[in-house]
Amino acid sequence: MKKILVINGPNLNMLGLREPAIYGSRDYNALLVFIRESATALGLEAECFQSNHEGAIIDCIQQAYGVFDGIVINPAAYTHTSVAILDALKAVAIPTVEVHLSDVDSREEFRHRSFVSLYACKVIKGHGFDGYREALEYFSEKK
Ligand code: DQA
Repeated sequence: MKKILVINGPNLNMLGLREPAIYGSRDYNALLVFIRESATALGLEAECFQSNHEGAIIDCIQQAYGVFDGIVINPAAYTHTSVAILDALKAVAIPTVEVHLSDVDSREEFRHRSFVSLYACKVIKGHGFDGYREALEYFSEKK
């Protein structure tokens, strides 16, 4: 069974409370349940990690080397700033799908740039929770 690591970056633990008009009213725990159920339905094993700290996310990516077959990452605000997360993904060379709950391209200009997109094999934006299921589907269909 393929093992997929799902990483969520800063402030995603505040889902439900955080700008519900943009991110919806369901909380982070509901997202975990959604990811777990989607993975099970697709015959994948998914492990979830969330941190508000860039270094902790980098440690998590490094530790995924040799353990996981794929990474689904919503780097949140670090998407737009972190060369270090991009470099960590390149270092481990694990196939990665980038997910954003909101459609970052239709928001502020500073959200249009993504460092992680320079490495990701697929980017899903603006599909809410469903984006995570679509990312998992990518790995279930991938050879
Ligand atoms: C986000 C979009 C980012 O611009 C923002 O900083 C987030 C969440 C999203 O899922 O839509 O924290 O990655």
